Amino acid sequence: MTDTPFDHLEIALQADASDRLSAEREKCPVQHSSAHDGFWAFLGYEHVGDAARDPETYSSASGVTIPAHAFPMALPPIEADPPLHMQVRGPLLPRLAPGVMNDLEDDLRAMVTGLIDEFIESGSADLAADLSIPFPGMSIGKLMNVPDDDVAMLRHMTAHLMQNSTDTDMIMQAMGFFQKLYEDRLANPAEDLPTAILELEIDGEQIGNEQFLAIMAMVMMAGLDTTANAAGTMFELIGANPEVRQALIDDPAKIPQAVEEFLRYATPLHASGRTTTSDVEVEGCPVGAGDKVLLNWLAANHDPAEFEEPDTLNIERFPNRHFAFGTGPHRCLGIHLARMQLKLLAEEVLARLPDYQVDEASVERYVGVTRGLSSLPVTFTAGTTAS
Ligand code: HEM
Repeated sequence: MTDTPFDHLEIALQADASDRLSAEREKCPVQHSSAHDGFWAFLGYEHVGDAARDPETYSSASGVTIPAHAFPMALPPIEADPPLHMQVRGPLLPRLAPGVMNDLEDDLRAMVTGLIDEFIESGSADLAADLSIPFPGMSIGKLMNVPDDDVAMLRHMTAHLMQNSTDTDMIMQAMGFFQKLYEDRLANPAEDLPTAILELEIDGEQIGNEQFLAIMAMVMMAGLDTTANAAGTMFELIGANPEVRQALIDDPAKIPQAVEEFLRYATPLHASGRTTTSDVEVEGCPVGAGDKVLLNWLAANHDPAEFEEPDTLNIERFPNRHFAFGTGPHRCLGIHLARMQLKLLAEEVLARLPDYQVDEASVERYVGVTRGLSSLPVTFTAGTTAS
């Protein structure tokens, strides 16, 4: 088999990434790329789903980013296999359960309202920089129970690391931040996520310092940039589709279902890596033990074998078994928080600046572990503050 130059990062940066991935999938749904030291790209819904649900063959313990990040350790639960995986994931599940998120709804809505208040009177804003990017940082800051100054630092570190995951200086800065949190919560346990992580037991023993740092870094990376980019791409899609915008203004109860379609369509966490533990044959291709495999969630989410008219944005789509949150044992742990955040953002923006227009020429895209927007300038009819 001949290697291809397939590069998911180069493709994911493009506005027409899903078209380009579909063209690649049609050429060859499983291909071996020479990019990033070589990996197999799985592009079809079935192969991606089967591999994600088979952690014995497709291991996460050697990392889930291609190329590899430069953290000095693996980041559980995402970079862990059984039994460690569930030892970390299991106790965190109730902390991010739907009921807990429902209890947070009013506080989260107040954050969105406050952010919109800062620009509503001016008639213009950057829906990425002024809203989609700061809001997830504020939400995670609340879960982590850290002061506002630390939230600003968390946001800065995450935004940087999601685009430059090999920047060792920034990694050391993040580790220093979490080390202080570790020492503080050891001395002053609280009813918050860091304390819950501190109390995790692995193989019957309370987790150590390094594991705490790794899990905190993972939650930070997973929870900030993903939602920011999901929100930015959602506002871009609403702006580009007037009939969708009107349907959601007329009936806001449609927003949760529409959010699933925005996620499928844009798939901000576009791909994850695995490493095979044994030789397997996929689509006639010899995937060898120890090979890197890329599960391209974005390509799978536009596969016509699963989705009728996959390139049409259809907010009534049902069922919508998309992989924007992954599938299998590593399916997103923050799914209920992310859905709540996106619902609140859409509700508040459509209620308060329903006629926003995107300045398409000034949109700025970026890609790293996730794909999304660093700038989404809009203009709208000025309104009044909520307070
Ligand atoms: C729209 C926003 C989000 C998207 C698109 C997203 C996407 C994903 C995807 C695709 C995976 C699976 C990766 C894999 O199998 O390799 C994942 C896992 C994960 N996500 Fe999210 N995520 C989002 C928000 C969040 C938030 C807000 C949090 C934290 C509060 C979070 C925490 C996690 C964790 C801890 C995992 C690893 C779970 C495990 O390995 O068991 N995510 N996410």
